[in-house]
Amino acid sequence: MVKILGIESSCDDTSAAVICGRTLLSNVIASQKVHEKYGGVIPELASRVHQQNIIPVVDTALKEANIAKSDLDAIACTIGPGLMGSLLVGVSFAKGLAASLDIPLIEVNHLQGHVLSHFLEERDKSKVFPSLPFLCLLVSGGHTQIIVVKDYLDFEITGGTIDDAAGEAFDKCAKVMGLPYPGGPVIDSLAKAGNPDAFSFAKPQVADLNYSFSGLKTSFLYFLQKKVAANPDFIEENKADLCASIQATIINILMDKLMKAVSKTGIKDVAIAGGVSANSGLGDRLRRDGEKYGWNVFVPERKFTTDNAAMIAITGYFKYQKSLFAALDAVPLVRMPDTKSFG
Ligand code: KG4
Ligand code: ZN
Repeated sequence: MVKILGIESSCDDTSAAVICGRTLLSNVIASQKVHEKYGGVIPELASRVHQQNIIPVVDTALKEANIAKSDLDAIACTIGPGLMGSLLVGVSFAKGLAASLDIPLIEVNHLQGHVLSHFLEERDKSKVFPSLPFLCLLVSGGHTQIIVVKDYLDFEITGGTIDDAAGEAFDKCAKVMGLPYPGGPVIDSLAKAGNPDAFSFAKPQVADLNYSFSGLKTSFLYFLQKKVAANPDFIEENKADLCASIQATIINILMDKLMKAVSKTGIKDVAIAGGVSANSGLGDRLRRDGEKYGWNVFVPERKFTTDNAAMIAITGYFKYQKSLFAALDAVPLVRMPDTKSFG
């Protein structure tokens, strides 16, 4: 069976994974703590840390998979979208290794990887996969899209954000409350002790299946400024309720449009993917709505929600089947070409 090494370095996680067929043998992730004190990812620091991490991370992934370099059939790496300096480390390494082993290089769209992570198999674990076509709400730090996945490599984007991504909404709202970066997981855990109906925030009115999150962040900021002017301890005293309320608002916005997408397309296999799909409130809501409306829902395991190379390797597997190989002069792309399909 085909053995593929996946490499992911688009932002601040250096990751390598090995798959055999569709079965994951290893998935190693080195996260960068250096950005925490700056409240966001510093691109220059990210690429330097990727350079330090890439060799040990790949080495560990191969060892954990019990695979020698010479057993590999192809190397798949994230070509974009992402930070140029970060992408360059993974892409250059992948090119060098593919050339030295004389095996194909496969370039992978990071976003396609998030979606296709649903097709990863694991040893000794049975799993139900979405049937094609299915709907996927892709929610990450940089993207929010509703995608009709017609085939493994045939996607149609039916809706997207016109400004901030859902992950940015979480991170920016966390920042104005003085919470650490990235704020999404912090809001998620604090929200568990809060009342989601304690405060209400206006939902944006956006056409079709599109989203907008920048107004929510601004109204949250103005709301807090007013409250803090009256009571300097307002945030501290209401932290859990604030987190629960803002999280509930973001989830309602996301799910309203997803529900519309189901009505419009008639597709009842519904998945979520990307960093924000780790949100426990979003996963619970999707499961509840699935039961209520008779959808088959797919919530990824936490380890496959945030950036990882397993998703790059499985996308590489589908591209390998179609001999979609990259030239060794392939260049990383900060943004992917503006197309409605991922190709
Ligand atoms: O997919 P990802 O790891 O990186 C990108 O491709 O952007 O997504 C990162 C985003 C961040 O905005 C982070 O705050 C958010 O995912 N995130 C969460 C949770 N875990 C990560 N947002 C809400 N709840 C979570 N549990
Ligand atoms: Zn991502």
